[in-house]
Amino acid sequence: MRQVTVTEHLLLHQTQTPDASGKFTALFYDLILAAKTISKTMNKAGLLDILGATGEINVQGEQVQKLDAYANRVLIHRMERTGVLCAIASEENADFIRIPEQLQKGEYILIFDPLDGSSNVDVNVNVGTIFSILRRKSPSNNDVTLGDILQSGVEQVAAGYFLYGPSTMLVYSTGDGVHGFTLDPSVGEFLLSHPDLRIPEQGKVYSVNEGYYKYWDDATREAVEYFKGDENPLGKPYSARYIGSLVADFHRGLLNGGIYMYPADCRNPGKAKGKLRYLCEASPLAYLAEQAGGAATEGTTRILELQPEELHERVPLFIGSKNDVEAVATIYKKHR
Ligand code: AHG
Ligand code: MN
Ligand code: MN
Ligand code: MN
Repeated sequence: MRQVTVTEHLLLHQTQTPDASGKFTALFYDLILAAKTISKTMNKAGLLDILGATGEINVQGEQVQKLDAYANRVLIHRMERTGVLCAIASEENADFIRIPEQLQKGEYILIFDPLDGSSNVDVNVNVGTIFSILRRKSPSNNDVTLGDILQSGVEQVAAGYFLYGPSTMLVYSTGDGVHGFTLDPSVGEFLLSHPDLRIPEQGKVYSVNEGYYKYWDDATREAVEYFKGDENPLGKPYSARYIGSLVADFHRGLLNGGIYMYPADCRNPGKAKGKLRYLCEASPLAYLAEQAGGAATEGTTRILELQPEELHERVPLFIGSKNDVEAVATIYKKHR
């Protein structure tokens, strides 16, 4: 296959920002450099003192893994200096970060989950970095505000993820389809390996943590039973796959079809809207899902149409093959 680099592909496929190709390319260049740094460390994490927890609890109420903190530091340091951002928001930081006075700023906002699936990192299971790119709404000469960050998913100009697995991949969209790149470590370049990814309309796999069954409401139980029974287009139960890293479970669905679900938990007030964060997990992946012909809802409403009110707002997530997400919506509509 002819080698196509990310930079070349970006210049060919930019629809959202035709006027700012240089800025966008600079942003992706630094994001890729940060991801390559994280990937290199990840590949030998067992030999470094970088596994396990830091002992801190983050704003999410989660045990911070050393690699969460490491990936977060690498991304913030690199992206503060990319010259085209006015703000950064991370799953690991309680507040958003304004680009320091002495560094060059721009119009874009970068939101990321620096390490998704970090509970898996000590057992060497796929993890990833999820990112979302917005353009500021307030005038450039004003201070960037939280309102600039709290935007609906439809406002995204790009989104994607890095997947640290048997190979390191970059999957992204700038509004012109979804494209996958694989890192060739021998040359240090991400090269096009999965052009124009499309999610199969009908899946054969469902992905949910069934350990929480007793915390689900009737609609959620009925939705999960739909995939475990015969009353579905397959006429038989779907296969169950749950890696525990959203980015890996999503990637499987992007390529092979199926549905990933993280429902609301009707017993635990802290998870009344599920566990996943809107801005750095649900919104970017919903953008990719729709760009690849799939769907993403919180049960009945499109994820991309929701308006976040808080930086770390959580949202239930049903994402993947169009038919499967629509089947869940039909069940939820019956109960609402
Ligand atoms: P993160 O590691 O960024 O906090 O995200 C973890 C998320 C997601 O990656 C995964 O699908 C889900 O949490 C697993 O949650 P449960 O362990 O509750 O199933
Ligand atoms: Mn976390
Ligand atoms: Mn995550
Ligand atoms: Mn994370």
